Amino acid sequence: MRDVPRPSDRPAETPQAPGRTPHTAPPGPLRCPGAEDQPSEASAPPARRPARKADVALRVERCLPDGFLAEALRADARAGLSATPKVLPPKWFYDECGSELFEKITRLDEYYPTRAERSILRAAAGQIAAAARAETLVELGAGAADKTRLLLDAMAAEGTLASFVPVDVSEAALIEAARRVDGEYPGLAVTAVVSDFEEHLGLPSASGARLVAFLGGTIGNLLPGQRAAFLASLRSRLRPGDSFLLGTDLVKDPAVLVAAYDDAAGVTAAFNKNILSVLNAALGADFDPDAFEHVALWDARQEWIEMRLRSLQDQIVTVPAIDLVVPFAEGEEMRTEVSAKFRSAGVAAELAAAGFSMTEWWTDDRGRFGLSLSVPA
Ligand SMILES: C[S@@+](CC[C@H](N)C(=O)[O-])C[C@H]1O[C@@H](n2cnc3c(N)ncnc32)[C@H](O)[C@@H]1O
Repeated sequence: MRDVPRPSDRPAETPQAPGRTPHTAPPGPLRCPGAEDQPSEASAPPARRPARKADVALRVERCLPDGFLAEALRADARAGLSATPKVLPPKWFYDECGSELFEKITRLDEYYPTRAERSILRAAAGQIAAAARAETLVELGAGAADKTRLLLDAMAAEGTLASFVPVDVSEAALIEAARRVDGEYPGLAVTAVVSDFEEHLGLPSASGARLVAFLGGTIGNLLPGQRAAFLASLRSRLRPGDSFLLGTDLVKDPAVLVAAYDDAAGVTAAFNKNILSVLNAALGADFDPDAFEHVALWDARQEWIEMRLRSLQDQIVTVPAIDLVVPFAEGEEMRTEVSAKFRSAGVAAELAAAGFSMTEWWTDDRGRFGLSLSVPA
C-alpha cells in the first residue's frame, strides 16, 4: 500500500458539486431485531489487522441534493402503489434493519452467491489487482464491504492501493462498513459516498487508475433497460486505465435459486417485508407486515427471480405523506425485487453494448457465480 496522507490532512479528491457535502459524523453500531443472532464475519474482531485509528474522522460525502432520496422514495411509492400490478424498487429495502437482514441472508446455507463470489475473489484477487493496477477501489452498493477486504489486500500487496470509496444508498450501513475498513487499513484514505448509483456514481476524479467493483449480483436487481443505462453511464465516466469488476449470479437449477430467496428460517421473508416498515417509517403508512406473505418465484422466460408480497386479505393501506389510499385484494401480489441471473455470453454482450471490453471471466468451482473484469473498449 502506498503511504498516503490521511483524508483529513489533504484536499478533497472530488470537486464539491452542489449537494455533495462532506461530513465526519459516523453513527454508532446498527441494531435490528432478529438480525443479530449469528456472529457476523464483518463484525468479528479483525485477525492480523491493527487497531482502529481512533483519532481520525472518516470522510463522508453526500452526492445528492438534500432531500433527494426522500423525494425519490415518495415518487417511487406514489407510482408503484398506483400501478397495476403494484411494484416497489428494491433499493428501498436497505434501511438499517434491511441492511442487517441482508447481511444475515448472506450467511444462510441456502444463499450461495456470497460464498461463491468470495471463493472467486480468494482465487482471483491477485490477478485482478495485477491487471487493474489501481490506486483507488470504488465499490458501488458496497453494503458491509466484507468480501472487499480480499480486493483491498490484493491491491495493497500489489503496491498500488491508496484509497477506498464505498458508495451506497444505505447511509448507516455504509458508514459502519467504511469505519471498519478505515480502522483496519492504516494509510488507506477511505471516503464513504452516500448516493444512489443510478443517479450519481460517486467516482472520485483524482488522477490515477480506478477499479470500480460492483459485487453481490446487485446489477441483477436492475431491469434490462436500467442495466443498460447504468452501464452506459458508468462507461461514460471511466477513463483509459480504469477497470470494472462485475459480480453476476448465473442461471442454474430453479430449485436452488428459489431456495436462495425463500430460506427455511424466513430471513428473506423478513427482509422482503421490511420494505413495508420502511414505507411506514418514512411515509407514515400503516402497512401491517403480518397481512402479507413473502413470495419468491423463478421466471424462466426472463431468467430472473422475482420477490413479491402477497396480500393475505382484502385491505386498505393509507400512505399519508403522499396522500394515497391503496386497496389490496386478497391474493394480490406486489413485486418488490427482480434478481436477474446471467450467462457469460449475455454479460459480455451487455458490457460490450455499453462500450466495455471483457478481459477476464471467472466462475466458482461449481459454476454458480460469475465475476468479470472489463476495461473501456
Ligand atoms: C445485494 S446488496 C450487496 C451488498 C454487497 N455488495 C455484497 O456483495 O454483499 C445491495 C447493496 O446495494 C445497495 N444499493 C441498492 N441499490 C442501490 C442504489 N440504487 N444506489 C446505491 N446503493 C444501492 C444496498 O443498499 C445494498 O447495500
